[in-house]
Amino acid sequence: MEKKHRAVFPTPYRSTETSECIRFRYIYCQCYEIVLPGGVTIVTDPFISGAVDDFTIDDLSGADYIILSHTHFDHDMDTRKIWDKFHGRIICLKEVAMDIADFFDIPYSNIYAVSENCTYYMPDFTFQTFHGLHDNRKAREGTDKKPSEQGDTTLKRFGIEGHFHLDCMGAMFMMNWVLTTKNNFKIAFHAGQDFDEYARHMMEIRPNIMIRHRIRTCSPAEYARQCEAAGVQYIMPWHHSNALITGEDLNAYFEEVNAELKKKGSLAKAFNPDPYQWYQLYLGIQTC
Ligand SMILES: [Fe+2]
Repeated sequence: MEKKHRAVFPTPYRSTETSECIRFRYIYCQCYEIVLPGGVTIVTDPFISGAVDDFTIDDLSGADYIILSHTHFDHDMDTRKIWDKFHGRIICLKEVAMDIADFFDIPYSNIYAVSENCTYYMPDFTFQTFHGLHDNRKAREGTDKKPSEQGDTTLKRFGIEGHFHLDCMGAMFMMNWVLTTKNNFKIAFHAGQDFDEYARHMMEIRPNIMIRHRIRTCSPAEYARQCEAAGVQYIMPWHHSNALITGEDLNAYFEEVNAELKKKGSLAKAFNPDPYQWYQLYLGIQTC
């Protein structure tokens, strides 16, 4: 009969270990810079130079991919400047791809045009796309304009000509997505309305984190509900810069979201990143 003994080895044991999932930082509006393990860098909805003066394109660490959710100027403004610096690929919906290439004068072969509800097995990650709908706040408030009444928003706001058609398409074509890294970390992105349709997809995909539009009329209870509906461990905001207009304190807001999650017995957390600050998300082991 074999002797029983503890399965211990004579060499030192480690008390902690970490596996990197992503590094990220929030910049403004819907612009995040996300670095995947291995260094591939993604910039989402680049709107920097028209928004802030204490962070510039030169501060970005890279942009192997620029992902555009929709083509309003506060989401695509710096596409050309960033492409000039890093020569990455621009991922956008097929419907807007030609206009993006032409307006920003980016070679067609650098545009990675995608359709809704498709899966793309890209060299650096898997990319899944989902239908999106722009927030219809203006329709709710009765201030939305008919096509015959549309002014040139980009010209009026930024003095830049030629973006009018992209402005119009931005209200109709919205792409939401999930990015899965090579080590199976899943980042969900959702902006605009139709959240519950997206959440139904998420119940199968089970993303780890979700970056979700903080629509200004969205209560902390509703934001917590959306976090739970997608089944994520962390929910982080974007487009919450709108809160500056209404004078809301988003840190207090996210405390309320976390209180709501706790009340529901959820282990998920809402996290409001400090702009420009790098954060690391990792899976860790430690003795306890
Ligand atoms: Fe928009």
